Amino acid sequence: MNRHGTGQTDDMTSSQWNEVDAHLCDLLIADDEALTSALQSSTKAGLPEINVAPNQGKFLMLLAQVRGATAVLEIGTLGGYSTIWLARGVWPGGHVVTLEAEPHHAAVARANLERAGCSELVDIRVAPALETLQQLVEEGAGPFDLVFIDADKINNVHYLRLALELTKPGSVIICDNVVRDGQVLSTDDSDDAVRGTRAVLELAGSDARLEATALQTVGSKGWDGFLFCVVKG
Ligand code: SAH
Ligand code: DHB
Ligand code: MG
Repeated sequence: MNRHGTGQTDDMTSSQWNEVDAHLCDLLIADDEALTSALQSSTKAGLPEINVAPNQGKFLMLLAQVRGATAVLEIGTLGGYSTIWLARGVWPGGHVVTLEAEPHHAAVARANLERAGCSELVDIRVAPALETLQQLVEEGAGPFDLVFIDADKINNVHYLRLALELTKPGSVIICDNVVRDGQVLSTDDSDDAVRGTRAVLELAGSDARLEATALQTVGSKGWDGFLFCVVKG
């Protein structure tokens, strides 16, 4: 049984996904004390283990690099694991703004970012992300080159709409967890996360300001996927 209780992924398959992910990470991702201890301290502090996988984190870092990003926005910090990857991807003089509603998560993230040597370039804003995003729009913040949406899925449509206010042509917007063990096909309206995920995919496919695709992923985080959008000129 998988984490969403759908039973669609048998144990053999998921253990192979894990083994292959471990192999890929061994070959491609250097051991990194700060990232490892960020995960350890997050677990110790009782945070859920819903951070991106190492190979996904590095993918975010590489996206920031290929985009030449100097301004990155993250919605959903948790213990700052993905935030560290993003901070490592920004170009010189760049910064990351990351939004987190839970003060305890933000405190763990602050310590992890400090240990990783990137606290100087990261601004953690502790409040419900919808509030902070409105403030950022009012402040005239941005434009951000890369936005990573990874918080409460029910608000994904609002996050994507607000991200559009804070980006420019060529900016990249990524949204995590758009497959959820295949539950994206479920029309059960009682599941908020699934409803939010279906809605953000519909918006990304229909908004004239965006060019979008989505990729399914398997690995140590199960069966899931990334929505990938580029803001059109
Ligand atoms: N990006 C992280 C994982 C984020 S998990 C990583 O890959 O390492 C989702 C986070 O979003 C949690 O810490 C949760 O507290 C936060 N969150 C949930 N609802 C939120 C909201 N309305 N505003 C801001 N953060 C929220
Ligand atoms: C959940 C949230 C995430 O952002 C994630 O990557 C995995 C799981 C969750 O809320 O279950
Ligand atoms: Mg996620």
